[in-house]
Amino acid sequence: MTEAVKRENLLTVNDLKTYFPTDEGVVKAVDGISFKIDEGATLGVVGESGCGKSTVGRSILQILDKPGGVEDGEILWRTDSLDGTSMVVDVARQRPNSKTMRSIRGQDIALIFQEPMTSFSPVHTIGNQMMEMIRLHRDVSKAEAKDRSIELLQSVGIPNPAQRVDEYSFQLSGGLRQRAMIAMALSCDPKLLIADEPTTALDVTTQAQILDLLRQLQEQNGMAIMLITHNLGVIAEMADDIVVMYLGRAVESGPVDEVFHNPQHPYTRGLLRSIPSIYGSDIKRLPSITGTIPHPFNRPAGCTFSPRCPDFIEGTCDSNEPAFKSMDGTSQMVSCFLHHPPQGVEVTATEEGTSD
Ligand SMILES: Nc1ncnc2c1ncn2[C@@H]1O[C@H](COP(=O)(O)OP(=O)(O)OP(=O)(O)O)[C@@H](O)[C@H]1O
Ligand code: SF4
Ligand SMILES: [Mg+2]
Repeated sequence: MTEAVKRENLLTVNDLKTYFPTDEGVVKAVDGISFKIDEGATLGVVGESGCGKSTVGRSILQILDKPGGVEDGEILWRTDSLDGTSMVVDVARQRPNSKTMRSIRGQDIALIFQEPMTSFSPVHTIGNQMMEMIRLHRDVSKAEAKDRSIELLQSVGIPNPAQRVDEYSFQLSGGLRQRAMIAMALSCDPKLLIADEPTTALDVTTQAQILDLLRQLQEQNGMAIMLITHNLGVIAEMADDIVVMYLGRAVESGPVDEVFHNPQHPYTRGLLRSIPSIYGSDIKRLPSITGTIPHPFNRPAGCTFSPRCPDFIEGTCDSNEPAFKSMDGTSQMVSCFLHHPPQGVEVTATEEGTSD
């Protein structure tokens, strides 16, 4: 969580575009997003289903479904070269199976996601899979790798780890499986953990335990976390910074405290209304966002949020695309004409809009 420590930048994503060619046309799943993650920090990525959150995470790891791929932009990852000095790799320019990418995936960046069953093979024990992962990147004996696996299972709170290490993933409960997936992801001390809806499938109590665990592990290891979720409550608890995504782009970003207390984009405001304790006591009188997110094929003209926006400005929002720009006097960035009106256009927010 927020602390006054100067952190080095770890990842910088600049104007990333990731497209999936399909028989029906090109799906522009991510269409120009920029953000940064610093060492040891947590970035929350939020937005409704289909807005491109997972595609951003998978682009950073270059594990996109073929023939999808990064079309444009930069994914600048700071890593250590063989002589121990720091260097920056543009992941967007790497082939998915290159040596560099395999090394980044195994040693630098790990992924956990909603369904742990699919990250484990049903025919190998959990321990064997962890040992394989550890030995792929470290010159250790089988016995040492097994000891490390047991240690990791213990560190994520799995009871009787020396026995569980020889079990199969289907023998564990949902919560324990999620813990085992985290242990597996941590087996190479990643600098960044991409957690894609890590608790969505879990009951509320287990969800809280897993989030606590991630926080503890982050404190111990100093790793950064990119936490992808549709749940702003989770972001409020866990993240330092937030990126709000809509239809493949960022519409607002900044420190969580600033964005939650002073949301500037009508979409962010709409999302925040779904968590009453954070947004305020007037929840019953505030409407939620109308309509649904369009498919990327049906990207609206002008501002992509315009068909759902309570602050829509006719003749401006439907014909121009707002740029994603810094807000004066804050660390927030926003793409909305209410804040950056085109020349000669005067804007006034609605009561529900930006006036408070
Ligand atoms: N392999 C693919 N082929 C074609 N389209 C895809 C593919 N993967 C994702 N998409 C499309 O890209 C868009 C973004 O999908 P993505 O899974 O990144 O969204 P998301 O924000 O993670 O959604 P959710 O909250 O449901 O997980 C969606 O319109 C989706 O249908
Ligand atoms: S640019 Fe216009 S339509 Fe888009 S969010 Fe701002 S006010 Fe709403
Ligand atoms: Mg997703």
